[in-house]
Amino acid sequence: MSAVLASPGTMTPAAAPRAGHPAAAAPIVEAWGLQKHYPAGRSLRQALQGERPVLRAVDGVDLTLRSGESVGLVGESGSGKTTIGRLLLKLTEPTGGQLAFEGQDLRQLNRAAMLRFRQRAQLVFQNPFDALNPRFTIGRSLAEPLLNTGVARAEHEARVAESLRTVRLGDPARLLQRLPHQLSGGQLQRVVLARALVLQPRFLVADEPVSMLDVSVRAGVLNLLRELRERLNLTTLAISHDLTLVRYVCERTLVMYLGKVVEDGPTARVITAPAHPYTTALIRAVPRPQVAQPRDALPLHGALGDAAGLQGGCRLRNRCPHAFARCATEEPPLVEIAPGHRAACHLHTT
Ligand SMILES: Nc1ncnc2c1ncn2[C@@H]1O[C@H](COP(=O)(O)OP(=O)(O)OP(=O)(O)O)[C@@H](O)[C@H]1O
Ligand code: SF4
Ligand SMILES: [Mg+2]
Repeated sequence: MSAVLASPGTMTPAAAPRAGHPAAAAPIVEAWGLQKHYPAGRSLRQALQGERPVLRAVDGVDLTLRSGESVGLVGESGSGKTTIGRLLLKLTEPTGGQLAFEGQDLRQLNRAAMLRFRQRAQLVFQNPFDALNPRFTIGRSLAEPLLNTGVARAEHEARVAESLRTVRLGDPARLLQRLPHQLSGGQLQRVVLARALVLQPRFLVADEPVSMLDVSVRAGVLNLLRELRERLNLTTLAISHDLTLVRYVCERTLVMYLGKVVEDGPTARVITAPAHPYTTALIRAVPRPQVAQPRDALPLHGALGDAAGLQGGCRLRNRCPHAFARCATEEPPLVEIAPGHRAACHLHTT
């Protein structure tokens, strides 16, 4: 699990939605019943009986991300966060459900539309070496996406220099001929961000964007992310184990458990008044170093995998301290409990 920056009590929150950013801004990304199931390992009995068990990495997610929104996606390891990010960027195909980007059905893209989508929706890699070839200079790595998407060569130099300036890496001329190993971790992560921005996207997915960085340089990269999404009006999905990171960067937070979104609301509200027992548990597990208070173990029974085989009912029921009879038979729907705040728990529907 990634290290944590500070306790929720000490970090400056991402603040309320920005002025001039109406909650009714146009949707950029929409998903309906989004699903990604993988074949799971079979026991001998299942093999003999011809059963084909599946692992439900993402299991029926409805989602709307609006223009300029900064949304965080949190949950334990294995809850399906990265899979959602990859589905939204069309880096993996769904096994069910529908997806649209800027109103266009992502199942029906011809080659030109696919190229345009690749320009407008980008991934910020967690590990710089997944994005940068160690043998390529920074200049070549940054020009590569322009080349791949058919941007005229005459524009490359200016676009690369602009993206390096955008991420505040100083004079671009000093970096263009360097190799990745000649840069610090913080500089590398900014180059990764510059590479995602060089195509001037509208939507960024940042999967654990600072988890590989030294604590001392994390705040700088997070400040930059926050500044960029405001300055460029980007729609961002920041994936993290770390609620404090999400609180710092995102106006809205989604909480995921075993392939489902179980809570969705304004970050400040989700953190100060969580509506789902799973969110409460995640918040209680955040360490509070400055008061020398140890991190609580996740205050749930058992582990994530304990619920993997559950059929019907609430997926948290074996771990939830509040579970009651109905939780075993009915899956709770995601319902609005306050304006813009939704939770999937029977405690709100009884
Ligand atoms: N290609 C794959 N084949 C089979 N199972 C997969 C594949 N990719 C992911 N999974 C499984 O899907 C589930 C969700 O994985 P995912 O990587 O989305 O979780 P995550 O929330 O991003 O976890 P982490 O916080 O550890 O990155 C996990 O049980 C994982 O083992
Ligand atoms: S529906 Fe029941 S088991 Fe699930 S989170 Fe709510 S109280 Fe707990
Ligand atoms: Mg992940």
